[in-house]
Amino acid sequence: MRTEHMREKLVIKGGKPLKGNVTVSGAKNAAVAILPAVILCEGRCEIDNLPNIEDVRLIDYLLCKMGAKTQLNSTTMSIDASGVTEHIVDNDAVKLMRASYYLIGALLGRFGKAEVCLPGGCAIGLRPIDQHVKGMKALGAEVKAEFGMLKAYAPNGLIGTDIYLDVVSVGATINIMLAAVLAQGKTTIVNSAKEPHVVDVANFLNCMGAKVKGAGTDVIRISGVEKLHGCSYSIIPDQIETGTLMIAAAATRGDLTIENVIPTHMEALSAKLMEMGVRVEEGDDSIRVTCPNRPTHVSIKTLPYPGFPTDLQQPATVLLSTAEGASIIVENIFESRFKHINEIRRMGANVSIDGRMCVVEGVERLTGAPVRATDLRAGAALVVAGLMADGQTEISGVKYIDRGYDHIEGKLKSVGADIHREKMSDAEEYEFF
Ligand code: EPZ
Repeated sequence: MRTEHMREKLVIKGGKPLKGNVTVSGAKNAAVAILPAVILCEGRCEIDNLPNIEDVRLIDYLLCKMGAKTQLNSTTMSIDASGVTEHIVDNDAVKLMRASYYLIGALLGRFGKAEVCLPGGCAIGLRPIDQHVKGMKALGAEVKAEFGMLKAYAPNGLIGTDIYLDVVSVGATINIMLAAVLAQGKTTIVNSAKEPHVVDVANFLNCMGAKVKGAGTDVIRISGVEKLHGCSYSIIPDQIETGTLMIAAAATRGDLTIENVIPTHMEALSAKLMEMGVRVEEGDDSIRVTCPNRPTHVSIKTLPYPGFPTDLQQPATVLLSTAEGASIIVENIFESRFKHINEIRRMGANVSIDGRMCVVEGVERLTGAPVRATDLRAGAALVVAGLMADGQTEISGVKYIDRGYDHIEGKLKSVGADIHREKMSDAEEYEFF
């Protein structure tokens, strides 16, 4: 695992329109669920179109520590999890990532018991896991949190049942699917999340021999099977990387064609961009974004899919910071997802926050400044800010960005951005840590 990136910064000289063609990587939030899901099967799985990101390397590291045999080659991974015999994972690496909660569902599904450190991840809100716990309890597990571990035991095995989620949760929907595919009988998840990566995980489970129906709607029905087998699977393109690039294209008044995408996954963003006056043209597996004029203000409310994704709220706020007029943004999913705003204020943005709402008064331009990424999408938002600002922006906290974006500076450079990575000076490091 790399650690030196913690001491790096991205340096951007802004004002260059993004032009040309760029290819999107595989979906992070599908990959971080599909890799732990491999624990459920007895054979070898070949996973393709993985994003080359820190979170994937972290799961690879954890799977190896647990006894799996893996071979990771940038975007493909071969995994044989038959050597995983232990249901306890108390490795500190678990705490670095939110998605490590999928190890609980996968281990519980395979062994009927799991003990995993409580998950970490981006500090964007309280992020409770009560719905995950509710689902596992409904399936017959005793679940408790103690000594920093989440412990789930189903001494009589997991038994399928009906589970109604009180909130639409991506993580709980996927975790319950993982636990239920090998349970006895039928499980129904009502009010399930409909995100593209939920569907991708269900497709992967089915590829291993599971019987999951209805993913992508708000009722998922699972018929438990006795065992799962190995398979080859290719992960869908990353909806959020696609959206970040679309926003960056608009923010730099560029002309960018984004390839290897699923345009229907982008409809909420495409509609908002068009409302701002940005041109969005959909191909079969590409999207072209052009923005000759200054965008106009819009209102955005984040919602579960197919609503506007919370993961694109931060970059969208930055785009709106130089739009004509005042925009209103309401963040309905995570209560602390405005941390990038303090940073873009340093670049000249005029934004006021009131609880879960912010008002963005469009200014003529942003100007470069040293800023700090506090979480993954805040980092992506600051990259967008740096690309559109006059002068030089230096972004510390690159470790957050590397968790979810595959070679972000290489891709942006290939379409005209002036961006590179540098080691922080001793003084910058002192201030950062
Ligand atoms: C997933 O987080 C993603 N992470 C997030 O992406 C994404 O922002 C989020 O879904 C929403 O789309 C991964 O897939 C690894 P949720 P998750 O459970 O599963 C509440 C990124 O930047 N809730 O759908 O943690 C919760 O507090 C990341 O890539 C409960 O109340 O999100 C939130 O308000 C960040 N109880 C809402 O539901 C629970 O048990 C949605 O959360 C679970 C969630």
